[in-house]
Amino acid sequence: MAYIIDGKRISGEIKDEVKERVERLKAQGREIRLAVVQVGSDPASTVYVGNKKKACDYVGICSLAYELPEETTEDELLALVEKLNEDDSVNGILVQLPLPVHIREDKIIETISPKKDVDGFHPQSVGALSIGREGFVSCTPAGIIELLKRSGIEIAGKECVVVGRSNIVGKPMSMLLLRENGTVTVCHSKTKNLKEVTKRADILVAAIGKPRFITEEYVKPGACVIDVGIHRNENNKLCGDVDFERVESVAGAITPVPGGVGPMTISMLMYNCLWAVEREYK
Ligand code: GUN
Repeated sequence: MAYIIDGKRISGEIKDEVKERVERLKAQGREIRLAVVQVGSDPASTVYVGNKKKACDYVGICSLAYELPEETTEDELLALVEKLNEDDSVNGILVQLPLPVHIREDKIIETISPKKDVDGFHPQSVGALSIGREGFVSCTPAGIIELLKRSGIEIAGKECVVVGRSNIVGKPMSMLLLRENGTVTVCHSKTKNLKEVTKRADILVAAIGKPRFITEEYVKPGACVIDVGIHRNENNKLCGDVDFERVESVAGAITPVPGGVGPMTISMLMYNCLWAVEREYK
């Protein structure tokens, strides 16, 4: 049976560490303020935004909610982002994705000041990561690195296979594993003989977006399996991209859904907000 990586516990530890550092900043008269922008009322986004606000309250970061109607134009949203860029009392800006189809996400992401890009989605942040410079790192992959490190799973020299190449998870994940000296392969929908590739992995990251896609046939015995997916199954229960019951019996370590990667994303967002302020002191 695999070791279950407890993302809930580890994310709690990180939040407590952030809370302590936020308190230290407060004692010096520095407050951290995060602007959270949501356009429209996508139910999943509303839940995520609510959880982000709750985490802010917990660690002592002041969250500023901007709830805009679905009909908001791209120009109106750009104007708000520019206003927040110029507001020195705002340290981080988060525009919840997805945006309504009439707004170009790229355009919005590029307009957020790289100094306040706590999501790590700005091309400058992505470029910095790819050439090993300091910068904001996308929260979900950053959280996965923390899960591995804090579970004592070594990355250096290991075969790391990432399934999925999204800008938010797959690509930054591959760059981070490379930065940690892993030997990295990225697979995607056009990959041939996927099972043969994933079976080589010591660390397998599943970010495919298909419920329970990864079964035991994709996994090398003893491998560490990280599940980024979140879906509802036929009984309305949460499940991931990994078929947990089947993979648990062959893997060496595995993240559950819920309670694995999910809680880490928000903790790393809190960490990024803290870093937005701490970096100014360096
Ligand atoms: N939508 C899904 N995940 C994310 C995220 O990490 N950040 C933002 N801004 N939107 C998202």
